Amino acid sequence: MKIRKAVIPAAGLGTRVLPASKSMPKEMLPIVDKPAIQYIVEEAVKSGIEDILIITSRGKTTVEDHFDRAPELEERLLKAGKQDVYEEMVAISKLANIQYVRQKETKGLGHAVYCAKAFVGNEPFAVLYGDDVIIGENPVCKQLIDVYDQHGLGVVGMKEVPANMISKYGSLKIDPVKDNLYKVTDMVEKPAPGKEFSNFSILGRCVLPSKIFSILENTTPGAGGEIQLTDAMLQLCKTEGMMGVDFIGTRYDMGNKLGILQAIVEVGLQHKEVGADFREYLKNIAASL
Ligand code: UTP
Repeated sequence: MKIRKAVIPAAGLGTRVLPASKSMPKEMLPIVDKPAIQYIVEEAVKSGIEDILIITSRGKTTVEDHFDRAPELEERLLKAGKQDVYEEMVAISKLANIQYVRQKETKGLGHAVYCAKAFVGNEPFAVLYGDDVIIGENPVCKQLIDVYDQHGLGVVGMKEVPANMISKYGSLKIDPVKDNLYKVTDMVEKPAPGKEFSNFSILGRCVLPSKIFSILENTTPGAGGEIQLTDAMLQLCKTEGMMGVDFIGTRYDMGNKLGILQAIVEVGLQHKEVGADFREYLKNIAASL
């Protein structure tokens, strides 16, 4: 079945990037001039997604406003002759058919995805974590969808993380299939030292069959007292099997402070308007370090 729907969980409290995320969703943190979540919506659209559900929570209405029309602003831009900026603003509201649902309690990523049950229905769907921006030529969500289309199994996006970081992520047990494609045979969320399978972790993207909802219904809180998507995916992997793609693209974790800085520097260097000036500025700074 063709994948048309995507879910973007963006309801987390963002405690690792406080105080920035105290009254502003971390998913709205800008990378140069665009909020993180816009990069993610654009990736979904480039991957062929038509319908998007963003999981929000209290204090996240700016996400909805961002993808809505802004009549007063648009009128002002037109009057000022800024046709190109006007068109760019209108285009944001037309990117995709975006809906929203609130996760009333932040009980974890698994619980957030479960909030998408009615939206998804019986179709396979993509999940793009709302604070993971991935930049690359070929959208990563599309790389995963292509694997789903070929194998008909759930797919996780994965990358190797430094050995001393794996306890903060989910660790995957994998068998190589070919090139950057793997069969996933086991997984564990936030493994205690020595309990990791490999340094490959699920990062930011997955494609899931709707069966995940009946599994999530019975998933009890795991690591950190949260309902973990990884725990539900483990069951899927044991019963139906799952695939893993060592995706091609650079991931920026907007949920941690260093990730935000890396995103701004690297995307800033490529930016059409300010990239060249920024490069000069950075060179001067670097020379003085
Ligand atoms: P994270 O675990 O990185 O988000 O979840 P968090 O809970 O906000 O992080 P910290 O530890 O407090 O800093 C990955 C994605 O899942 C969403 C987050 O918004 C983020 O985009 N999420 C997480 C939810 O939607 N609901 C949750 O209950 C938890």
